[in-house]
Amino acid sequence: MKKALILLAIVVALFVAAAGYFYFSLPKSAPAVTQDENKPLIGFSLGALREDRWTTDRADFIAKAQQLGATVIDASTDYDVAAQISQIENLITQGVKVLVVVPADSDKIAPAIADAKKAGVKVIAYDRLIKNTDIDFYISYDNVKVGELEAQGILAVQGKGDFAYIGGAPTDNNALLVQRGSMSVLDPKIKSGDIRLVLDQLTPNWDPTVAYQTMKAYLATGGPLDAVVAANDGTAFGVIQALKEKGLAGKIPVSGQDAELSACQQIVQGAQTMTVYKPIQNEADVAAEVAFAMATGAPLDKYVNATTNNGQEDVPSSLLAPEAVDKNNMAETVIKDGFHTYAEIYQQSSSTPGR
Ligand code: BGC
Repeated sequence: MKKALILLAIVVALFVAAAGYFYFSLPKSAPAVTQDENKPLIGFSLGALREDRWTTDRADFIAKAQQLGATVIDASTDYDVAAQISQIENLITQGVKVLVVVPADSDKIAPAIADAKKAGVKVIAYDRLIKNTDIDFYISYDNVKVGELEAQGILAVQGKGDFAYIGGAPTDNNALLVQRGSMSVLDPKIKSGDIRLVLDQLTPNWDPTVAYQTMKAYLATGGPLDAVVAANDGTAFGVIQALKEKGLAGKIPVSGQDAELSACQQIVQGAQTMTVYKPIQNEADVAAEVAFAMATGAPLDKYVNATTNNGQEDVPSSLLAPEAVDKNNMAETVIKDGFHTYAEIYQQSSSTPGR
């Protein structure tokens, strides 16, 4: 009898404990809305990954957008237009309010952009223009100016002779703008006969290997060469590889763009003449601010300093000013901003005496 009572007491105690545990573990009200649901959702679609810059663009954009109070979903592909289109469709399905797009192809991406607009999503073309479809905003550096700076940088060290132009991707509107800028500077000299354009080629996907092959094939003809205007640091890298094989690196001036670390190193070593510095943080910050303003219905006027015709309409634009960098102003530009450190560029250990 006593044993039975003890057993009953244990069973009751266990039951009370279990009921209490169950009660206290129940949510006391509807679960709180997760913080993210209150934040505007922004999609970032990246169509190029090859150059160092793009992963920095993505990281800087996400950091700034999050700091402003947005949630960012991103998707990337390296020049696969079909993949980028399906990634954009997916971002639309996930409910993004604003889509920030670096197109793998300035024209072919249009159908996905039209779908985004149909779904009420605002679209910002980031760095590369999206053509022949309705978009809301374009943010970039002044690409015509980039091309001018490249040609001027070469003319400053080589005023006449046999020039090669190694351009960017024909599917990237920027490549065409950069080329236009460079040619506007070279044209008067070509007309006067001071400069002969012995090679003039674009480079699909801005691929350094293709630039290398283009340069190598030209050098194999034994044709004359005094200077190379290369559209970015990747193509410059390919060109310099081909020049090296002929013992010409450092003897033939070569331009570039992006201030990539390897380009800055080649500049201080003398193999590359100059690059064009476009601080990524500034571009990514403006894009994040514009995207956040769009998502929250804030005015955009203060960001607009230009309009750009994309073949269909005039697009409000924010165009930033690029800067030429050579071995003489590396310290006041790239190094001063912390874009790269002195030790990285000059390939010294940070404990080098005197630094
Ligand atoms: C960008 C350059 C970059 C190139 C290749 C262009 O659209 O403006 O900074 O070097 O694409 O990725």
